[in-house]
Amino acid sequence: MMSQALLKVTDLKKAYGAIQAVGGVSFEVQPGEIFGVIGPNGSGKTTMFNSVLGQITPNSGSIEFKGHNITGASPLDLSRLGVGRTFQTLQVFGKMSVRDNLIVAAQEHSGSLLGRLSAPSDSGLGEKADAMIDQFRLRHVADQLAGSLSYGQQKLVDIAMAFMAEPDLVLLDEPCAGVNPSLVGGISTLLKELNQRRQGSFVVIEHNMDFVMDLCHRIMVMVEGRVMAIGTPAEIRANKQVLDAYLGN
Ligand SMILES: Nc1ncnc2c1ncn2[C@@H]1O[C@H](COP(=O)(O)OP(=O)(O)OP(=O)(O)O)[C@@H](O)[C@H]1O
Ligand SMILES: [Mg+2]
Repeated sequence: MMSQALLKVTDLKKAYGAIQAVGGVSFEVQPGEIFGVIGPNGSGKTTMFNSVLGQITPNSGSIEFKGHNITGASPLDLSRLGVGRTFQTLQVFGKMSVRDNLIVAAQEHSGSLLGRLSAPSDSGLGEKADAMIDQFRLRHVADQLAGSLSYGQQKLVDIAMAFMAEPDLVLLDEPCAGVNPSLVGGISTLLKELNQRRQGSFVVIEHNMDFVMDLCHRIMVMVEGRVMAIGTPAEIRANKQVLDAYLGN
């Protein structure tokens, strides 16, 4: 019996006026898979993410998560179903400590504001935040204001926040963008750990080819809103069309 895809995107389309940002994209992500998305600037990667995540409404196409149709579901619905994300730009609260950022990220997923206000103050989130802080090697900065950290460290906090809700699938939009090259290896190691320890599945948009080729099990190449190829890193590296359109120099 074939295993059910974790995420199944079918013929997704999104236009902005005359611009067909996403022009009929289909792919599947399997449980436990790290799925990379690469492609030139403006090829529709972020628009595809935002459509999958309920941030924008696609013109057509369907999205299934664990066999359920989630097309048109809100970001809050999705996070409750177990889909998390990070954005291309940082979403940390600069004037809060790293630890409080993580606690707030988890609270966002645990019910209504009213419910939260009336809930006991410590509902185990502090412990969870501490475990995440250790896993992300952020102990030495846990009590500092997030805004005082380097960009790369804030990016780590941003990623850790996405994991506080214990999602089954996380979509990361350019986790290495703007990060000092010395920290990029650390992000890769962390994602590999989260993949192995929690059976975490990821879809990762990234322009850093070394990072993508090393981390991902399979890679989708988008060009002008369409899928040019899907394959293993070795297959993508050897694909002549991809070389000409994107990887070649
Ligand atoms: N809100 C919007 N309004 C109008 N056009 C948009 C909007 N968002 C994206 N576009 C256009 O859609 C196309 C795809 O953009 P998108 O941001 O999805 O690309 P991308 O692959 O994520 O690029 P990058 O690698 O630079 O992040 C581009 O031509 C972009 O200008
Ligand atoms: Mg983008």
